[in-house]
Amino acid sequence: MMLKNNDAPIVSVKDLTVRFVNGDSEVRAVNGVSFDLSRGEVMTVIGESGSGKSVMLKTLLGLLPRHARSGGSITVDGVDIQALDQDAMSALRGRKISMIFQEPSTAFDPVYTIGEQIVETILRHEDKGRQAAMERARELLDLVSIPSAARRLKNFPHELSGGMRQRAMIALALACRPSVLLADEPTTALDATVQIQLLLLLRQLQRDLGMALIFVTHDMGVAAEISDRVAVMYAGRLVETGTAEEVMLAPGHPYTSGLLASTVHAGMRGKPLRTIAGSPPDLRALPPGCAFAPRCPRAIASCREGVPAQIQVAPGHDAACIRVGELDTMQARG
Ligand SMILES: Nc1ncnc2c1ncn2[C@@H]1O[C@H](COP(=O)(O)OP(=O)(O)OP(=O)(O)O)[C@@H](O)[C@H]1O
Ligand SMILES: [Mg+2]
Repeated sequence: MMLKNNDAPIVSVKDLTVRFVNGDSEVRAVNGVSFDLSRGEVMTVIGESGSGKSVMLKTLLGLLPRHARSGGSITVDGVDIQALDQDAMSALRGRKISMIFQEPSTAFDPVYTIGEQIVETILRHEDKGRQAAMERARELLDLVSIPSAARRLKNFPHELSGGMRQRAMIALALACRPSVLLADEPTTALDATVQIQLLLLLRQLQRDLGMALIFVTHDMGVAAEISDRVAVMYAGRLVETGTAEEVMLAPGHPYTSGLLASTVHAGMRGKPLRTIAGSPPDLRALPPGCAFAPRCPRAIASCREGVPAQIQVAPGHDAACIRVGELDTMQARG
C-alpha cells in the first residue's frame, strides 16, 4: 500500500504544452502551463474564447485526440498520468478526476436513459451490484437536487430541461466520488437564475464532498463568487494567478485589467460594454515575446523580445508581465 501525503497537491502541472499538428501547420493551444492544486481547493480558470481552457482540462483527463502532441508533466494524486496506458487512465478518470463538459452531448449518450448511464459508470469503477448502483444513482440525483429522482432516472437526456440536464451531468461526474472535479463552463448555456442555482449547488457539493475543483468560465463575477484562486489564461498561458480578491482589486497583468473592464457590472447596465481592442492571437503563428503585446496598451519594445516570466505582484499573486511593479496603479475600472 502506497503512503499518501495529504499535504501534497492533488494535481500538479508543470510546463504543460499541447499542440495540434495538421499537415504543415501547428496550433499551439497550451504553451507552458504550471500550477499546483491543493486538496479541496477551488481554482477558476478565466479567459476569452480560444485561450486553451478546454484543451487544458481535457489534457488533465487524458482525453486529447490522436493528432495532439503534449509535453510537460501532470500528476494526479502523485500518479504521473502521461505514463498510464489507456486502461489505467480510464480507471483513474471518474474515480480520481472527473469532468463536467462544456457541451452536454459529450457526457450523455442520447440513446440511453440518465439512470442507465450513471449506473454503468458506477459499475465500471466500483465493485457493486446493479441494484446497489441503481440506489446510488438515485441518491446522486437527490444530491444534485433533481426532484422526483426515481422517475428522472428513467428519462432520456433530451427529456430534461437544460438546467436539470446540467445537474444530471454533475451527478454523473460525481458518481465515483472523485477527488478532483473539472467543470468546463457548466452554466453558460443556462439563463441567469438557473446559473446562480447551479453555481451555489456546485460550491456546496465541493465543500460537502471535500473535492478540489477547477472551474472554467468567461465571467469574472462568477470567478469571484466561486473560487479560492483565479488563474487568467491567455493564448495558452496562465498570465496571472492569485486569490480572486487580489486579482480583481489589484490586477497585475494588463490583460486581466482589460477583462475586468469588459465585465458588465450591475451599475453599468445600459452602458456600452468595453472590450479589449484587437483580437486574440492566431495560435498557429504566435508573436515572439508576450502574446498579449500586440493588444496591450502598455506594451514597450522589450515586451516583444522574450516570453515574460511570472513576477510576484504580492505573496501568492503572480503575473507574467515585465512591467509588474512599474505600474502599481492599474485599476480595473479606471
Ligand atoms: N481537436 C482539436 N484539433 C485542433 N485544434 C483544436 C482542437 N481542440 C481545440 N483546438 C484549438 O485549440 C485552441 C484552444 O481551444 P479551447 O477549446 O481550449 O478554447 P477555450 O478557451 O476552451 O474556448 P471557449 O471559451 O470558446 O470554450 C483553439 O484555437 C481551438 O481551435
Ligand atoms: Mg472551452
